Order: sequence, then C-alpha cells, then structure tokens
Amino acid sequence: MSGPGGGKIRTATLVKRKSVGEKIVADTAYDVAFARLADRAGVDVLLVGDTLGMVVQGQATTLPVTVDEIAYHCRAVARGAARAHVVADLPFMSYQASIEDGVRAAGRLMKEGAAESVKLEGGEEVADLVRRLVTIGIPVMGHVGMTPQSVHQFGGFKVQGRTEPQAKRILGGARALAEAGAYSIVLEHMPAALAEEITRAVPVPTIGIGAGLHCDGQVLVMHDLLGLDPSFTPRFVRRYAELGREAERAFAAYAADVRAGRFPGPGESST
Ligand code: KIV
Repeated sequence: MSGPGGGKIRTATLVKRKSVGEKIVADTAYDVAFARLADRAGVDVLLVGDTLGMVVQGQATTLPVTVDEIAYHCRAVARGAARAHVVADLPFMSYQASIEDGVRAAGRLMKEGAAESVKLEGGEEVADLVRRLVTIGIPVMGHVGMTPQSVHQFGGFKVQGRTEPQAKRILGGARALAEAGAYSIVLEHMPAALAEEITRAVPVPTIGIGAGLHCDGQVLVMHDLLGLDPSFTPRFVRRYAELGREAERAFAAYAADVRAGRFPGPGESST
C-alpha cells in the first residue's frame, strides 16, 4: 500500500541503518520553519523534545512540559517534515504513574501531534510500557543515561554511568528496551566507552548526545547546534552556526533603521 509521504524515513529505515553502518542524523525541532530547514538539509530524525521547556519556554528543567505542549509543537514540526521521521517526547509524569497513562499520552501525541513515534526516558522500569505501545502499533524510541526528567534524582544534569553499578543499570536498561521492542535508543551524557558497549550489545540503533563517536547516530538540540544561545557552551556541543549573534545583530540594525527613519524605504511600502 502506498500512502502519503512515500519518501519518508520510517523506523525500519532507521533500524536498517545500523546493519549497513550508515549514521543517523537527528536534531530537535519545535516549529515548522526550522523543521523545514532541517528536513531540506537531510536530517533524518526530528525530535520534538521536552527540551522545549528549557530552550523555547525558558524554564530551568524539562519537568513542567505537558502533553498538550508537545502535541502543539509536534503538529507544527510534522507539517515541515516531508522526509524526516518525527518523534514526540512523552513529558514527565505522562507515563510514569501507569501503563494506561502512557498509552493515552502516546496515543494523543500520535493522533493530535501527528508524531510518527514517541520517545520516553528510562530502562527496565518502562519496558512493560514500551512492549504495550509497540503491541498497539506505536513505535518507541528509548532514552537512557542522563535522563533529564530525573534531574533532581541525579542532583543536576550530570554524566551518568561512570561507576560500575550505574553502568550496569544503564546497559541493562538499554537491553530491556530493545527486548521490549524499542526501535532505537538515545544514549545521553555517559562515558563514550559505555555508549560503545551498549551500541555493540543492542540490535537497534543508538543515538548519542554527549556519548561519543561510536553510537549509530547523533542528536543535538537545535538551539545548541545553531548557537541560538551564545552563552550556552557545553563541551559535548559543536556549534555549526552563530545564529544567536546574527539575530541580535539583525534586530539591532532593524531598530537603528526604524529610529533613524531609514525603514521602510522607497519600494518597501504598499501602494
Ligand atoms: O528533549 C530532548 O530534546 C531530548 C534530546 C536532548 C535527546 O531528549
């Protein structure tokens, strides 16, 4: 059966990438304009991450983000994603209390947000939910390591997996996710050697952020890779543009032109 979006990247496409050794390119997106640009540039996966709470809303953590907010941003991103696979994050407390909660929240993101899969944080503790979602036709991306929804448990956004018990728990969690049917797993903020071990241990692609070169793909927060916040310079980010500085310069030039009566000029008004 052929349907809309014939050129779309599917979960099966992403899984196959691992066997052929082709890297997966992912970044976050929160609106149609940047989704279109990333999609045209050939980004494979657009993640409507709950980082939107931090980079779009200006909150200190991802915890306040709601299912309604993810659905709203995801709908916009989906309109700009002709080719890229669109993943919606299940926000904090939309799935932790019960499997039923998780199923309903994931269903809403697929139905109202036009997501093509959902992502959730955690290992063994969410494996039953992953199994249930996959059984009812909702593809799931897992997320282990420094899972930001547990920031208060971790005492900050700190690298996880440096100690033997932590590393064992993260590896066990990744295995449990793959066994439960997750089609890929985000590995966040962990030693590169652990990410490499997990990547070898699971049959599905790993997508790293602050987890070294040996993952099957990489993901970055859009604002970080574009330099939208010039003051945020963590070690794991490579900035491919300085759009923050450029935008500030453009706003200042516009303000100066308006104040000096240089804008609008001849030809820049309606006749
Ligand atoms: O919410 C998000 O943007 C994420 C990425 C950092 C992987 O989970």
